[in-house]
Amino acid sequence: MDRIVFATKNKGKLKEINALLAELNVPVVSMEEAGITADVTEDGTTFEENAKKKAIEIMNITHEITLADDSGLEVDYLEGAPGVYSARYLGEDTPYSVKNQHILSLLQDVPDKKRTARFVCVIAAAFPDGRVFTAKGTMEGIIAREIRGENGFGYDPIFYIPQLGLTTAELSPEDKNAISHRGKALTQMKELLKKQLGVNE
Ligand code: IMP
Repeated sequence: MDRIVFATKNKGKLKEINALLAELNVPVVSMEEAGITADVTEDGTTFEENAKKKAIEIMNITHEITLADDSGLEVDYLEGAPGVYSARYLGEDTPYSVKNQHILSLLQDVPDKKRTARFVCVIAAAFPDGRVFTAKGTMEGIIAREIRGENGFGYDPIFYIPQLGLTTAELSPEDKNAISHRGKALTQMKELLKKQLGVNE
């Protein structure tokens, strides 16, 4: 096997993934590099369903080991919203400054102990022989009182980690990767792939 395909069009994600999976000694390429333009509809109701669906559908085109991820923010006070709809929340093209402000207003006057939230990431691996594996990572925090920080993306400016006294938008990319839902899911997936591919330490 000479490569693994990651079902993403996001170059930033791919760089992060290649760095974390370097130990596998197998290059991870994007859909674009694999010459695939297909779009997979994310119509599942769980992160697992969406990640598996994406990985399997793209693997059916590539016939190579294919990884896919799905992630989002779960806010307990909002019964898990925006969850799997995180990217589409209030509309795909709505700026995150608006989405974040909206969540802050929904949680106005809600005490800290009820502001609990988490980022979730599930990565699925689909093998051409039909095997499918998933790895899940979460990062716990609370919804901040105000937008803070310039780093990261999406909901990072309102995701506050009390133990650090910072939002994830105030962390460097390296510090965020070390504790993030995506970092944890990728580390788990790396171990799983090492086992499946028989890669020694
Ligand atoms: P997807 O997994 O690329 O479909 O992204 C899902 C959505 O979840 C993103 O568009 C963001 O809204 C949100 N999200 C996932 N991970 C993060 C994160 O690390 N920081 C901020 N927002 C995130």
